[in-house]
Amino acid sequence: MRLRDFVIAATLLSTTPTFAQSDDLPDDYLTPAFHAGRRDSLRALMPANSVTVVWAFPTRNFSNDVDYVYHQNPDMYYFSGYKEPHSMLLVFKEPQTAADGSTFKELLFVQKRNAQAEQWTGKRMGVEGAKQKLGFTHVFNGEDFKGTNIDFSKFDKIILDRLPTDIADARYDNADLFDLIQQLKEKAQITDNYAQDKRFGTTLFRQYTGQLREIKTEEELSLLRKAVEISCQGQAEVMKAVKPDMSEREVQGLHEFVHKKYGAEYVGYPSIVGAGNNGCVLHYQENEKLHVENKMVLMDVGAEYHGYTADVTRTVPTNGKFTAEQKAIYELVYEAQEAAFRLCKEGTTWQELDKVSRGLIADGMVKLGIISKKEDVNKYYPHGLGHHIGLDVHDRSASSKLKKGMVITIEPGIYIPENSPCDKKWWGIAVRIEDDLLIKEKDYELLSWAAPRKISDIEKTVAEKSPLDNFVLPKLKSARKGF
Ligand code: GLY
Ligand code: MN
Ligand code: MN
Repeated sequence: MRLRDFVIAATLLSTTPTFAQSDDLPDDYLTPAFHAGRRDSLRALMPANSVTVVWAFPTRNFSNDVDYVYHQNPDMYYFSGYKEPHSMLLVFKEPQTAADGSTFKELLFVQKRNAQAEQWTGKRMGVEGAKQKLGFTHVFNGEDFKGTNIDFSKFDKIILDRLPTDIADARYDNADLFDLIQQLKEKAQITDNYAQDKRFGTTLFRQYTGQLREIKTEEELSLLRKAVEISCQGQAEVMKAVKPDMSEREVQGLHEFVHKKYGAEYVGYPSIVGAGNNGCVLHYQENEKLHVENKMVLMDVGAEYHGYTADVTRTVPTNGKFTAEQKAIYELVYEAQEAAFRLCKEGTTWQELDKVSRGLIADGMVKLGIISKKEDVNKYYPHGLGHHIGLDVHDRSASSKLKKGMVITIEPGIYIPENSPCDKKWWGIAVRIEDDLLIKEKDYELLSWAAPRKISDIEKTVAEKSPLDNFVLPKLKSARKGF
């Protein structure tokens, strides 16, 4: 049924039923205590007489009357646990007093419950749900924000991220994200969406959320470990299943099938599956090549579990054997990664890590005769060595040095596109090896241990049988000849 049939269907509902959803759910979600703890930590960083404002991400249109699957703003999720759109959170440094004399440290504005909408797009938590399930004391429907008389002029600092300018006004609803932002701008007299001045501390928002989110708590770590392990099982299973006649999209589907089998809700970023020369496109997402052929396939795929995403890349020969050239490039990237691993501990800077691994790749490429001077290395290694992961695949951070409790990727790579100015035996070779590490005081823990990484382990794994080998579907009747 299409949305324009909604009005007719809605009139058939004579009562207001609740569209209950299953309570057969995982038992490892972040708890209200976790989110409350994050708000307390934020408050501890905030200056006197300040308020932080966090809002939901906008919904995004996919097609006509269909939206993309909604994904919450990681900051909103981190500080509240609320996963629905059209919502806003205010965190105050000092307790505030309401008209009824009660005191509060935070206000949450949520989507109003609506039985008809809930029949179409699922259950909403509503005010009562947010109180019971998330532990907030002062929760209101979005429409109530307009009538609140919060005096924003009394705060020395209003701490917020850049205001979104590309939000649609739903119009039928006076309390969508568009309205919340408009009302906030009016109430707090914000005239600049990129507000960087002292009062509207955009930079402070990034600084505080970076400081908090770059260090993972035990609860976050257990979800990240799971996301990474799921992704690695995907890599290992796909290595066993991959065949030269598979398409890039089929390989993508196998990864994502394994993710779902283990309960991951999303991928943390569009899956990158590039065979041969396609691997040279760093964030290749078309995955449209019909056959991966006897090439190497670069698979950068990360499962997102309860909001936390892995980021793991493996590059494997689809026929199970590295050629001499593929091996030479792979070994160089592997050595660069190992050299960076050895430096991973509290206190190391990203610069130090990058210098040693990039230097090794540069030396090696000169030796192989692919470049003549070391400075040319960036032509074939055009990205940084790594980044933090967490609620975002490129996660928020504030420090240039590694600290205990950070989770980062180490992902050197070499990409030699066709027609590069080197011997053509190197053309179309692209290798990235990407692993996820927990930084400890004196060393690190390799979270992505379960995905084969050494050449010998990869060759052994590709040769193994897979339960997916027997997954043969009938030929489509509608397929064009030859497909
Ligand atoms: N998957 C994107 C990246 O490696 O940064
Ligand atoms: Mn990455
Ligand atoms: Mn990646």
